[in-house]
Amino acid sequence: MEKVQEYIAGNKQRFLDELFELLRIPSVSADSKYKTDVQKAAEFVKKNLEAAGADKVEICPTKGHPIVYGEKIISKEAPTVLVYGHYDVQPADPLNLWHSPPFEPVIKDEKIYARGACDDKGQVFMHVKAFESMMKNNALPCNVKFLIEGEEEVGSVNLGEFVRNNKERLSADVILVSDTSMIANDTPSITIGLRGLSYVEVEVTGPNRDLHSGTYGGAVANPIQILCEMIAATKDKNNHITIPGFYDDVVEISTTERAEMAKAPFNQENYNKDLQIGEGQGETGYSTNERTSIRPTFELNGIWGGYTGEGAKTVLPSKAFAKISMRLVPNQSSAKITELFEKHFNSIAPKSVKIKVTPHHGGEPVVTPTDSVAYKAASKAMETAFGSKPIPTREGGSIPIIALFERELGLKSVLLGFGLNSDDIHSPNEHYGIFNFMKGIETIPLFFKYYTEMSASK
Ligand code: BES
Ligand code: MN
Ligand code: MN
Repeated sequence: MEKVQEYIAGNKQRFLDELFELLRIPSVSADSKYKTDVQKAAEFVKKNLEAAGADKVEICPTKGHPIVYGEKIISKEAPTVLVYGHYDVQPADPLNLWHSPPFEPVIKDEKIYARGACDDKGQVFMHVKAFESMMKNNALPCNVKFLIEGEEEVGSVNLGEFVRNNKERLSADVILVSDTSMIANDTPSITIGLRGLSYVEVEVTGPNRDLHSGTYGGAVANPIQILCEMIAATKDKNNHITIPGFYDDVVEISTTERAEMAKAPFNQENYNKDLQIGEGQGETGYSTNERTSIRPTFELNGIWGGYTGEGAKTVLPSKAFAKISMRLVPNQSSAKITELFEKHFNSIAPKSVKIKVTPHHGGEPVVTPTDSVAYKAASKAMETAFGSKPIPTREGGSIPIIALFERELGLKSVLLGFGLNSDDIHSPNEHYGIFNFMKGIETIPLFFKYYTEMSASK
């Protein structure tokens, strides 16, 4: 292991240079304009996996963006770790808010600034480089398979079919994912829960055409007003969601578990200061940390309608729109919540408007075990690398494919993320600490070693 760690330290600059090459490829999965760049990023990942020593590396086409697969099988007796990650990124806009161009990575204050630096290219690349470091030093203790996709940021719509058609090829003992955050650089944590997601788009139609707001205003319902009223009616004064049945399947967390969660360091004042908000806001009776992890939410992601150009235009618009996401917790089902939402919106809409709800991608919540060999190995690896025992935490984000892996492959995941909530993923000026990148590369081989040892002695 010492030789592996020496190799990692000695190759730091090259690892960073290669990561920068990947970050320069604008692999935005949501925008068809970048289709060839997404393909280029897949090829870059393939080339790097091969150079690191992986076998059977392949770019597997899908109906959408391709999946990169690779493996190194050393022994039938040894356990197999399936590493999952994504090489696609979120759109970079609004571009004018970036301090440096999103696809021209730079280092500032020991942090790498670029779209995808943390989510998830930087974290995927830690696995490729950790693998290379083990391979070059004859220190890979078990089998490893890589499944790096290009559609995570658009809901992994084609990965389910690939997984169903490749069960044999993907057979493994555990899934290892670095696509989440930890509490702080001096407070390591392992993610044990992620929320699910139901995402809908709503179209409210009033009159059959845009009208003069003086001639008709006052006598015809304005769809923007109606939409706002319906949205406002969907939460009560305690910020409790009013959709009938919304909380029916929510698993309430025991007071002991909540007390355990409350031990994680958190400072509301610093939180407010960082976001420049006067105060936090959320469901009555729950802490900030609980509101973003063990409780479901109803959030507007976008709302539009009418005239938004320069100057004034007196118009009573025909239509209003909103994009709404609901984050879900165990045991809510995204399909059921989408249905309840649609029913609710139709039932509270006045006769003056028509409602159309279009569901987008969804995903199920997950909770991963803390009593498994894999969790214990991950905990020990982090403790060795960071010098303190990681705290198990639940996070608010979603990785829908984790629940699907469990359903289709019967495999549990370990969510060993090295990002920070302050890394601004999905936002302008996304960044990733060089410390986090290097610590990740150091921790992963330790996980492989402990996982193999602990599996054998089980
Ligand atoms: N890596 C994130 C998920 C994440 C972020 C987990 C922070 C934990 C902490 C992932 O790439 C992501 O952005 N997921 C989307 C869902 C997807 C269906 C678009 C999300 O959470 O919005
Ligand atoms: Mn991600
Ligand atoms: Mn993301």
